[in-house]
Amino acid sequence: MARTVWDSSVGKKTVMAVSGLIMLLYLVVHMIGNLKIYFGPGEFNHYAHWLRTIGEPFMHYEWTLWLIRVVLVVAVVAHATSAYQLSRRDIRARPTKYVHSRPRASYATRTMRWGGIILGLFIVWHILDLTTGTVHSGGFQEGHPYQNVVDTFSTWYGNVIYIVAMLALGLHVRHGFWSAAQTLGAGSRTRDRALKATANVLALLLTAGFIAVPVGVMTGVVS
Ligand code: HEM
Repeated sequence: MARTVWDSSVGKKTVMAVSGLIMLLYLVVHMIGNLKIYFGPGEFNHYAHWLRTIGEPFMHYEWTLWLIRVVLVVAVVAHATSAYQLSRRDIRARPTKYVHSRPRASYATRTMRWGGIILGLFIVWHILDLTTGTVHSGGFQEGHPYQNVVDTFSTWYGNVIYIVAMLALGLHVRHGFWSAAQTLGAGSRTRDRALKATANVLALLLTAGFIAVPVGVMTGVVS
């Protein structure tokens, strides 16, 4: 049964929609949490510490955080695998190849594929930058995310990488949210306009909210 659903295109699209919505929920929370940087190092670092102690004393130190990490990794892998398989299927299903000058897929489809690849690379960079500190520009300090974030956005390439990724994220969420709603059966003649508006507002708020952090550091408001 599960095998049949996974093998069908509708099954893969459902996996994409559900995993996408899980990641979207994480992003909304992450974006709001990041804005605490405007309240200063005390509040921001305290918030990062709280992330590791959620659910205590029932949960041990970092257990809830690890649970969230596992859910996110499963979502990312499921999302990327079904996207790859759907696009392979799409290419194979075409009876004859298009003439070279004609695009292979629609504008939206190509934007989603490139956007997805950019975001996948960004997530790896971002974790190596602000979670493990492997590629971090300053002296990475565990437990002091405020200073680490300020250091990242004190380099030109840090700003470029994050801002480009956040623009890609906005475009990806805008189309992705809409597609997910259609796949999950939320679309209808009367609701489509409201769904499009929701997708636009969500994408805009996420992009603007995330970009507010590098902008804060660049303008010296956060230092
Ligand atoms: C300007 C934008 C962003 C800033 C300033 C930022 C900041 C941070 C910081 C400081 C951490 C480390 C938190 C800690 O260790 O307590 C973190 C972790 C993380 N961020 Fe972001 N983030 C941004 C955008 C994003 C985006 C767009 C994504 C996803 C596409 C993302 C996904 C993650 C993930 C998956 C983690 C790892 C959580 C963990 O396992 O510890 N972030 N971010």
